[in-house]
Amino acid sequence: MSERTFVMAKPDAVQRGLVGEIVSRLEDRGLKLVGGKVMAIDRELAEQHYAEHRDKGFFEDLVGFITAGPVFAMVWAGEDATRQVRSMIGDTDPADADPGTIRGDHALDLGRNVVHASDHEDAGANEREIDLFFEEHELLDYERVDETWLYE
Ligand code: CDP
Ligand code: MG
Repeated sequence: MSERTFVMAKPDAVQRGLVGEIVSRLEDRGLKLVGGKVMAIDRELAEQHYAEHRDKGFFEDLVGFITAGPVFAMVWAGEDATRQVRSMIGDTDPADADPGTIRGDHALDLGRNVVHASDHEDAGANEREIDLFFEEHELLDYERVDETWLYE
C-alpha cells in the first residue's frame, strides 16, 4: 500500500554534505519526495520527537546532538515506504549496519548515525512524525512521470 514516511538528515549529515546522497538513494529507489525543508530543531521539538527515549541514558546526548545544527526534514511517499526506507538506512548502530545501507556506508558511531526514519514496527509513527514536523500544506500530492514503470 502506498504510504508516506518521515525521514531526516541529521545535523552530522548536513555538516558532512550527505543530504544529496540520502535524497539520491531514496529517489533512485523510486520513492517520491513530497516535502522537504532545512530547519533547526529546538529542545521542545527534540523532546517530542524522541519522547519514547525520554528515560534512556542516552537521551540528553541525543537531544544535544539533534539540536546542534540544521537538519533536512523530508517526507517520502511510495509503496510500503516506511518499511523500505528503514531497510535502506540500516541498523541503528552503524557498526552493525550492512554495507549498502546509508548508515553502513556513511557512518561509524551510534551517536552519529546520519539519518532518522520512522519506525515501521511502531504503527502510526510515520504520520505522527510527519504531523510533528510539517504542516499539511507543505506536502505536495503529485505523480512522478515514471510511476507507470515503477509499479505494475
Ligand atoms: O534511529 P533509530 O530508530 O534507528 O533508533 P532508536 O532506537 O529509535 O534511537 C534513536 C536514536 O538515538 C538513534 O538513531 C541514535 O542516534 C540514538 N541512540 C543512541 O545514541 N544510543 C543508543 N544506545 C541508542 C540510540
Ligand atoms: Mg527510532
